Amino acid sequence: MLHAQITGWGKCLPPATLTNDDLATFMETSDEWIRSRTGIGQRHISHVSTSALAAVAAKHALAAAGIDGSDLDMIILGSATPDTLVPNIAATVQAEVGAQCAAFDINAACSGFLYALGLATAQIRSGQCRRVLVIGAERLTFLLNWMQRDTAVLFGDGAGAVVLEAVESDEPTGVLSYAMNNDPQARDILKVAAFGSDMDRLSPDAANFQFQFEGREIFKRAIAGMSALGQKVLAESNTALDQVDLVVPHQANVRIIDTLIGKMGLPAEKAFINIENYGNTSAATVPIALCDALEQGRIRPGDTLLSCAFGAGLTSAAAVIKWGDRVIPV
Ligand code: ACO
Repeated sequence: MLHAQITGWGKCLPPATLTNDDLATFMETSDEWIRSRTGIGQRHISHVSTSALAAVAAKHALAAAGIDGSDLDMIILGSATPDTLVPNIAATVQAEVGAQCAAFDINAACSGFLYALGLATAQIRSGQCRRVLVIGAERLTFLLNWMQRDTAVLFGDGAGAVVLEAVESDEPTGVLSYAMNNDPQARDILKVAAFGSDMDRLSPDAANFQFQFEGREIFKRAIAGMSALGQKVLAESNTALDQVDLVVPHQANVRIIDTLIGKMGLPAEKAFINIENYGNTSAATVPIALCDALEQGRIRPGDTLLSCAFGAGLTSAAAVIKWGDRVIPV
C-alpha cells in the first residue's frame, strides 16, 4: 500500500526581529500584556518576499530529503500573503529549485499548510505523485498597521516546507489521516476586507488592507474547530490519546493551545510550543514548529504526531502523522 511520509524539512526565518519591548517604544503596549495574552516574546520581520522565504525553506527541505528539485512531481504552497496573485508563487519557488512539475498556491490562511499536506497525501496515495513539496509561507507584516496595537503585536514572517514521499508498506505510516473543514458563518470575524479584485482601485481605503478581527470569537471557534477535527483524525487512524507522542498545533496564541490540549484530554507537556520566538506566522507555523521540534529532539523515529490548525475562513484542519526513521540526532 502507498503511504505519504515526510522525508525532508526546512524553515526560513528572516534575521531581523522585533521584541515586545521594541514594539512598546512606539505603541501603547507592554511585554507583560503581550506575553500574558498570547505567549509571544518576539517576531521576525522580512524585507524580502514571501516566495523568497519559501524558496529558502524549500531548498533546505529538499537537501534534508536528499533529492533535487527535478525529482518533484508537485509543489503546493499555502499562503495568505503571496507576493503576486498571478502567477502563483509556487511557480516562483519552482523556478528557484529547478523543478518541472505541477505547482500551485492555496489560500486557507493559517490552515494552509495542513490543507496542502492533505491534498499532497491524496495525490501520493492515489499514485499520481511520488514526491510533493509542501510549503507554508507568509509575509504577514506587510498587512500590518503598526499603529493598530491589537493586531500588530500578534504576527510575524517566516516559511517552512516538507518533502512528502511515497513509501510502500503493509503497515500504516506517514500521514495516517487528515481532515479539513470551513465554518463560513465565521468568514467575517477575521479578514483583510478588500485586498483583491474587490478593492476600490480609484480610491482605495487603507483600512481595508489590514487585519480586522474579533479575537474572542476566533478564540472560541478555533478551539471548537480544532478539537472536532483532532478527534476525527485520531478516530480515523485508530490512534488512542495515549499513543500521541507530540501535538504540533498552529501557533496563534499559547492560551488557545493550552485550552485545546486540555479539552482533548492530552497532557500539557505533549504540546510543542514555539510561539514565543516567532509570533503567529499563519500557514508557516506548523512546518516551522516541525523543524524546531526535530532540532530539539522532540520527534523520535516512529513517533505519532497530531497537528491541528485554524485560520481565516474560518478554516480548520488536522492530521495524524506516524513519523518515519529520519530525525535529527541530538
Ligand atoms: N497592548 C496593550 N493593550 C492592548 C493591546 C496591546 N497590544 N491590544 C489590545 N489591548 C487592550 C484593548 O484595547 C482592551 O482594552 P480596553 O479593555 O480598555 O478596551 C484590552 O487590551 C483587552 O482587549 P481584548 O481584545 O479583549 O483582549 P483579549 O484578552 O481578548 O486578547 C487576543 C486579545 C490575544 C487577540 C485574544 O482575543 C486572542 O488570542 N484571540 C484569538 C487569536 C487571534 O484572534 N489571533 C488573530 C487571528 S489569526 C489566526 O491565527 C487565525
